Amino acid sequence: MILKKYIFVAAVLLLAVACTAKQELREPQVVPQPASLQRTEGSFRIDRKVPVYVDIADSAILRTVGFLNERLQKAAGFSLKVISNDDPLHHRDEGAILVLDAGLMKEAYNLDVTPKGIVIEYGSGAGVFYAIQTLFQLLPEAIFAESVQRGVRWEVPCCSIEDSPRFPYRGMHLDCCLHFFDIPFLKRYIDLMALHKVNRFHWHLTEDQGWRIEIKKYPLLTEKGQWRKETVVGSLYSGIYDGKPHGGFYTQEEARDLIKYAAERYVTIIPEIEIPGHSLAAISCYPELSCGLEDHYETATRWGIFKQVYCPKEETFKFLEDVFDEIIELFPSELIHIGGDECPKASWKKCPHCQALIRKLGLKDEYELQSWFIQRMEKYINAKGRQIIGWDEILEGGLAPNAKVMSWLGEEGGIKAAQQHHEVVMSPYPKYYLDYWQGDPDSEPLAMGGPTLLRTMYEYEPVPAVLTPEERRYIIGVEGCVWTEYMPTPARVEYMAWPRMCAIAEAGWTRAPKDWEGFTSRLETHLGRLDRLGVGYCRNFWNPFIDFHKDTEYSKVVTMSIDAPGAEIRYTLDGSAPTAASLLYEEPFAVNRQQRVTAAAFRNGRMIGDIKYKDF
Ligand code: ACM
Ligand code: ZN
Repeated sequence: MILKKYIFVAAVLLLAVACTAKQELREPQVVPQPASLQRTEGSFRIDRKVPVYVDIADSAILRTVGFLNERLQKAAGFSLKVISNDDPLHHRDEGAILVLDAGLMKEAYNLDVTPKGIVIEYGSGAGVFYAIQTLFQLLPEAIFAESVQRGVRWEVPCCSIEDSPRFPYRGMHLDCCLHFFDIPFLKRYIDLMALHKVNRFHWHLTEDQGWRIEIKKYPLLTEKGQWRKETVVGSLYSGIYDGKPHGGFYTQEEARDLIKYAAERYVTIIPEIEIPGHSLAAISCYPELSCGLEDHYETATRWGIFKQVYCPKEETFKFLEDVFDEIIELFPSELIHIGGDECPKASWKKCPHCQALIRKLGLKDEYELQSWFIQRMEKYINAKGRQIIGWDEILEGGLAPNAKVMSWLGEEGGIKAAQQHHEVVMSPYPKYYLDYWQGDPDSEPLAMGGPTLLRTMYEYEPVPAVLTPEERRYIIGVEGCVWTEYMPTPARVEYMAWPRMCAIAEAGWTRAPKDWEGFTSRLETHLGRLDRLGVGYCRNFWNPFIDFHKDTEYSKVVTMSIDAPGAEIRYTLDGSAPTAASLLYEEPFAVNRQQRVTAAAFRNGRMIGDIKYKDF
């Protein structure tokens, strides 16, 4: 009997030990999810005595290692001694961080953490950079703090990671024309991209509503073209204007500085100069670039599409060639974005020059004229050793021979381009449009449309199933679009972009099949990191989304959902605040007109987000 009791106690103890070990072996929560991650027992502690051995004395690799020290200095209050041009393997298992060239693919890295040290293997500086981004996410979230955190043990859980991206192009766009954003904000934007292993910043620089990049040969573009005299208030259709001039532009020196800043973080900046449409700001400065059908051209003060577009005449091409000369000189990017979207044909239809040109060239219509326009510019840009990328509409009237397509009008353009063996970046509206609502429009700030919820964005598969395996190879990546009609401030941009951009970053990086539960579990940890960085992201992750079937008459059928894993939704129908004892949402239910659904999410009896309500 006594023996039995001992056996029982021993078994309980063993179980307790096993459970603790299991708890300790919680998988690191990394966003985007690495290709392979094996958690092993134990941890390695980084303190001020840990040396970093780098196998070569390459300045780019050392600068990249410097990002580890920069963050440690900020949050931990110390930095590590970096010893270069040494054989790191001599110092294996000596409690050091080793950084060694293992001839991996350009952006790939291996990260091996044991109780005796950390080994980073790379093939280029990008691999070192991404290993460090992952290392930050293995450390306590306090590593993302902006000031020194006392009393934190900088433990890294032991694990073995082998990682490389699914796509070479992982992009994030920012429209700096509809609203202007200054360089310090753009640097922060790029920092956040880089943290998520996003490697292309698509910089939208020209629009109907403002021209934002200095062109030395045409100073009027920024002296005058940066300005619009006022801006529509609220919705594009409000008819109300704020009466305040809006402007701002980037000097070439500022652009150069930003390009270097981004490159150090392995982000390539792709500039976008819009042709032939969305060009009213330039035309307001140089009306001779238009079809000349109007007496007066002025930078647009509301959002939308405008019929005043570049007229395909020799002086326009001279102007555009001069502009692209300076752009190509400034930006080392292999890809140059030429816009190409939303070019109305009304002016070309009325313009005697355009009509004569169509006849002279034997073109069928204005769509073929647009194609001819783009192809002529493509030839010019190709001759300078660069490639063009444009929005879907460059397919109209025939795709330029070497053009890449950024597919935004759903997936059709991307599919067509891939079938024609042109490379494609998938940035479909509304799935990857971060300017769309990310919650109930009734309780969210004004946005472009939608909603496009986090889950919708996460679950989108960027390689269309209709493509053959051969055609699929032409999908080179993904991009999240941030159009800023309704984002007048940096704070609003961050609110709209994050955390949904985490889902797009993961689509670009991670090959593993979609796993919503796994993603939300990792994301919840990750949001703690974004909190430390002071990112003003949308917090709907912890709020119920209340929806109803719009195509039924009353009674309406209400559905609710919540992103936070393991949370339950409780609700009331009498307007009172829900508590942990309120009705539990389990399945769709009917409500009558004039009823109000009030809901909140709970975990372990505690409310985790805000109370949301919807009137019917
Ligand atoms: C676009 O959204 N007009 C590309
Ligand atoms: Zn014309």
